[in-house]
Amino acid sequence: MYDKSFWNKRYSGANYIYGTTPNSFLAEHCGLLTGPVLSLSEGEGRNAVFLASRGLEIIGVDISIVALEKAKLLAKSHGVEIKTALADLAAYEPGENQFGSVVSISAHLPSAVRNRLYPLIEKSLKPDGILILEAYSENQLSRDTGGPKDSDMLMTVAKLHQELPNLESVLLREVDREVSEGEGHTGMASVVQFIARKKA
Ligand SMILES: C[S@@+](CC[C@H](N)C(=O)[O-])C[C@H]1O[C@@H](n2cnc3c(N)ncnc32)[C@H](O)[C@@H]1O
Repeated sequence: MYDKSFWNKRYSGANYIYGTTPNSFLAEHCGLLTGPVLSLSEGEGRNAVFLASRGLEIIGVDISIVALEKAKLLAKSHGVEIKTALADLAAYEPGENQFGSVVSISAHLPSAVRNRLYPLIEKSLKPDGILILEAYSENQLSRDTGGPKDSDMLMTVAKLHQELPNLESVLLREVDREVSEGEGHTGMASVVQFIARKKA
């Protein structure tokens, strides 16, 4: 259902579906991040452009060519450089010991994809590297304010704990918060928030 053509169609308008300002959880904690940064499911570039404007080298991966073209335009209009990679995270190989930080904002994936990818993400971080993740929780299913309508793609604290066992948790919680991110994510939402460090 949420495949490449779904996303290319969703991004086909001139507007930025999730806005052009960064996710607020990421913005609040961006001081923890070092580069290079890998951003999973970067979309139209709002988070990558924000991090690049803070001087971080960033590569944004996404399955949607339409989103990444818009991300490059956004970067240009802000006078910053971002790298992009058109790839399906179901097959993506991030490499080992590559990144100071990995960012995952609303990067909802089926559990089968996460089960292959997440161990690779753990390995892709350098020692002391940081993962920062915000995702809609399973409790979001009853709301109409954003996120996939598929509990397998929604997260819980327990899933994060189980699926990324080799990272040291700095913060892991579920919260209800007001989200205002373009027309795509708007209103009261249930999210999980995770900051974790790769053991040195
Ligand atoms: C809800 S959007 C979030 C975009 C961005 N992270 C943000 O916060 O603005 C989800 C993104 O996941 C991307 N995506 C979905 N499945 C993917 C996959 N298998 N591989 C790579 N990207 C994927 C979509 O193209 C879309 O840009």
